[in-house]
Amino acid sequence: MEHLQKTAIAGIGFHVPDRIVKNSDLEQWMDTSDEWIIERSGIKERRWIANEGGASSLAIQAAKNAMEDAKVTPDEIDLVICATITSDYFFPGISAQVQEALGLGLVGAFDIKAACSAFVYALSVGDQFIKSGQSKNILVIGAEVQSTALDISTRGRNVSVLFGDGAGAAILKRSLDDSEILSTHLHSEGRFLKELWLEAPASKYKSRITKKMLDEGRQYPIMNGREVFRNAVRRFPQVIHEAMDANHLTIDDITQIIPHQANLRISQSVAKRMGVSMDKVFSNIHKYGNTTAASIPIALTEARNEGKFKRGDHIILAAFGAGFRWASAAIKW
Ligand code: ACO
Repeated sequence: MEHLQKTAIAGIGFHVPDRIVKNSDLEQWMDTSDEWIIERSGIKERRWIANEGGASSLAIQAAKNAMEDAKVTPDEIDLVICATITSDYFFPGISAQVQEALGLGLVGAFDIKAACSAFVYALSVGDQFIKSGQSKNILVIGAEVQSTALDISTRGRNVSVLFGDGAGAAILKRSLDDSEILSTHLHSEGRFLKELWLEAPASKYKSRITKKMLDEGRQYPIMNGREVFRNAVRRFPQVIHEAMDANHLTIDDITQIIPHQANLRISQSVAKRMGVSMDKVFSNIHKYGNTTAASIPIALTEARNEGKFKRGDHIILAAFGAGFRWASAAIKW
């Protein structure tokens, strides 16, 4: 494809709630243990909001940090894309709140609901807007508050121990040097919809949610952990190879893979299948758990801040999650 422009990531940032919930804290609400959670997921603690508000409040702070990093001012942002499945309200999405709170112009603002893959989806959409010349400075955010949707009784323990709250953001700009989003690849396979989903409130039902549905716990996320695991360890390597092949890169050319932080055992399995050590596969899941659409921009920012990659290095973002959907982005930083 002939590109009119190239897209660079000009700045990144993240924000997580102050409240730390350790595995031992979960033991007071459900029958679980620190050992079980660490062994099965690598998670030691996660952040859950206390009184900060919904996903928009985390998104706004992450956006401020990314804008400061990129040295862009509110009047320069000309598009907002928010990746989230946990918007403050059923509608509208949080991008409208972000536009207002940051004092942006009357610019386009929309949400993308693609679960764990949504930040890479949002990056891909933003990349097309920059390449076409339609936008100059795009704010892309991944933000989630999962904690208020979890069943923290023993009934929901296979899901609720895994998830955390947080937000991460990036500023996309026209590249003026050789830093560039080289490619993005997006996939979905809807037949697995009910292997990881949250059913209600549902427009499919006239009353959307009933007392009976609440009693049955149909307002909580449901996951078939084994099916998620089986598909994730196959799709992550596939979509990483797709990113490398499209850019004639080998794994030796890649400085760091930043995967969606689903589960440490998934990342370890991906590293093994890719033939690399965990040094090349960034992980911070022990601190934050799985923050869905926020996990990649949080991980990207921490990896950059820890010096895991630098200007000119090739990195790959890779995601897998509900839908099922999976995606990758190859980036020359
Ligand atoms: N604490 C203690 N025991 C638990 C817990 C818990 N939090 N959750 C489940 N158990 C119990 C189960 O009840 C079961 O008990 P039983 O044998 O008496 O019936 C036992 O542990 C084993 O349960 P399984 O579900 O079979 O456990 P499994 O070994 O499959 O591990 C896990 C579960 C960790 C969820 C695993 O399937 C997994 O890693 N899946 C990937 C899912 C994932 O990472 N999802 C993230 C979201 S999706 C994404 O981001 C890609």
